Amino acid sequence: MSSEPRMALPELASMKTDGRKIVMVTAYDAPSARLASQAGVDLVLVGDSAAMTVLGHESTVPATMDEMVVLTRAARSGIGRPLLIGDMPFGSFQVSDEDALKNAIRFVKEADADAVKLEGGGASVSRVRTLVGAGIPVMGHIGLTPQSATMLGGYKAQGRTASKARQLFADAQALQAAGCFAIVLEAVPARVATRITESLRIPTIGIGAGAGCDGQVLVWHDLLGITEGRLARFVKQYGHLAEETRKALEAYAAEVRSGAFPAEEHSYGISDEELALFESELDSGALVGDAGGDWL
Ligand code: KIV
Repeated sequence: MSSEPRMALPELASMKTDGRKIVMVTAYDAPSARLASQAGVDLVLVGDSAAMTVLGHESTVPATMDEMVVLTRAARSGIGRPLLIGDMPFGSFQVSDEDALKNAIRFVKEADADAVKLEGGGASVSRVRTLVGAGIPVMGHIGLTPQSATMLGGYKAQGRTASKARQLFADAQALQAAGCFAIVLEAVPARVATRITESLRIPTIGIGAGAGCDGQVLVWHDLLGITEGRLARFVKQYGHLAEETRKALEAYAAEVRSGAFPAEEHSYGISDEELALFESELDSGALVGDAGGDWL
């Protein structure tokens, strides 16, 4: 685990005041968190998007607390300076404030997360107040909240009418008042997100919410080109790792099949004397292989 000092919340707040953009990315294991740290990212979110990106589900809903804790703990092992945020999965905070607190404490105690994120306005505001009251920093998340995508009519942009934009604005103010240190705005019209951002003291992190947010987040597999097929409009791919990975695996398979791998430099040696001794034992019949019915 890194001994680097962790990013502190006041520093994040000052990034908004100074107009320095905040960079957030999701990561779900130690090597990814390490690479994100080395790249100078500010915030690492172990998103419940893990349900889709690494666990193979169709939506984020099946992610469990146990899975999220394991993934967050793994990310902690690789992370350096960025703030590590555990995403509270569906079912971990909807029932009651007490339940939300119990689960948020798991992220902090078992996974060493610096903060948690939870989706929604409304009842989530009271959850935020409870968690912050217990000393756990909370990031809010409004707009398109994938855990309630069915209720929202699918994976669609939110806040596209004046009344919906007003609701988003009200949710953002309430989450700030409840103590959130930042809020994710997902799939919100850029001009609405900009006005909400300007109205808040705390930073907004946009995903499909335009350049007026204080920071941006993208999902690891989307931005690196590991996700294939249809992508959301807001995704920009900065790499083509699926293609590169497939090429590397094909080359490996071809070399194994042709005998080109492993080469001399990938193999271990034995002295002539030791090998001669071993071979004389074999030849004398002192060692009996599987063909003789005995295990060596
Ligand atoms: O789960 C996730 O990855 C997220 C981000 C897209 C913000 O919530």
